[in-house]
Amino acid sequence: MLRRIFVRGNVERGWFRLNGRIVVEDLTKTFKKGNVQAVRGVTFEVEEGEFFAFLGPNGAGKSTTVQILTTLINATSGKVEVAGHDVVNDPEKVRQHIGVALQETGVDPDLTGREMVELQAYIFGFGKEEGRKRAVELLDIVNLTEAAERRIGGYSGGMRRRLDLALTLVNEPKILFLDEPTTGLDPSSRAAIWEELRRLNKEKGTTIFLTTQYLEEADSLADRIGIINKGKIVAMGSPKELKAEIGHDLITLSLKDEGESERALSLIRGGLDGVDVLSQQDKILVYVEEGTKQLVEVVRMFDAEGIGVVDIQLSSPTLDDIFLKLTGEPKEGVAARGE
Ligand SMILES: Nc1ncnc2c1ncn2[C@@H]1O[C@H](COP(=O)(O)OP(=O)(O)OP(=O)(O)O)[C@@H](O)[C@H]1O
Ligand SMILES: [Mg+2]
Repeated sequence: MLRRIFVRGNVERGWFRLNGRIVVEDLTKTFKKGNVQAVRGVTFEVEEGEFFAFLGPNGAGKSTTVQILTTLINATSGKVEVAGHDVVNDPEKVRQHIGVALQETGVDPDLTGREMVELQAYIFGFGKEEGRKRAVELLDIVNLTEAAERRIGGYSGGMRRRLDLALTLVNEPKILFLDEPTTGLDPSSRAAIWEELRRLNKEKGTTIFLTTQYLEEADSLADRIGIINKGKIVAMGSPKELKAEIGHDLITLSLKDEGESERALSLIRGGLDGVDVLSQQDKILVYVEEGTKQLVEVVRMFDAEGIGVVDIQLSSPTLDDIFLKLTGEPKEGVAARGE
C-alpha cells in the first residue's frame, strides 16, 4: 500500500517564504475500534527551523499524532496548524509544504530505488532531467548509489528507511515529519541519517518533527524534546532543561537479592522524606537532593535491616533517568536497540 503523500505539480519552493511552524492545541484522538484514547489532550508548538523530538515508549501516541499533523487521519478534537494552514480546512496546502516518512514505509517493491525517487520527483512537478539529477543527489545523500538499480523488493529494512528519507526530501519540504526514522538501522546508517537531518535543519532551516524511542537520538539531535506517555505530554524542554528539571542526584543500589526489592523500597520511603524511589529488577533507584549525604543514610538503613547490596552508584541525572522517572518504563525496554 502506498502511504506516501503525493501532491501533483506546482509546489511552492523557497525556504524563507513559508511559515514552518506547527501549532497543536488540545489534540485528542480516540479510535472507535477498541475505544482506544491514543492522544489525550496534547498542546505544543514547534517553531520555524526548530528540531523537535517527540520521545515516547511503544503505544505512547507518537504515530497517531504524526498522522494527524500530516493530514492522514482526523483528530477527534483539537486544532492543528501546520505551515500556517489548518489540517482540517486546508489539508492540500499543508501537504504542499511537508515531507513525511511514516513508520510503515510505502514503496513499490517492483521499482528500483532510482525509479522510485524519479517517480516522486515527477509527482512533485520536476521535469525529466531535473528529476534524474535530483534522484542521483538524493540517493548519494542516503548512501544508496550502489543499490540504485536494484529492485526495492530486495532492499533490507535499513535500505528502505534510507530510501524513504530520500523520497521525503524530493520537494525540499519546509517541514519534515519523520516517524522513528532510525529504528532498526545499523550504526553507520543511523549516523548518515543524523548527519543529513542536522544539515537540513542548520543549512536549509527545515523544521524537523521526529519521533523516537531512543533517548540518545533525541538528546543528540533535538533543540527541544516533548516526552509523551499514554497519550499525554509529561515533559517538554531542551535536553538541558529536562535534565535540570529533574535537578536531583540519583543513587542506584544493586541488591544482592532481587526478592528484597519491596522491603528496600518501603524502607527508603519510610526513612527518607520527600524522595522519589523506584525499583527496576534488582536495582533500586533513589532520586535525592544531596547525593553524598543521603547515600550514607541509605547505606546505614540497609545495613541495619540486613539488606545486602552488591553495588552502589551515585550519578547526576541523564535523559535516560528522566524518561524512566516520567514514564515508569524500564530503561532496557525503551532504549535498547534492535541491533
Ligand atoms: N488505527 C488504529 N485503531 C485502533 N487503535 C489504534 C490505531 N492506531 C493506533 N492505535 C492505538 O493507539 C495507541 C497509540 O498508538 P501509536 O501508534 O500512536 O503509538 P506510538 O507511540 O507510535 O508507538 P510505537 O513506538 O510502538 O510506534 C496504541 O494503544 C495503539 O494500539
Ligand atoms: Mg509509532
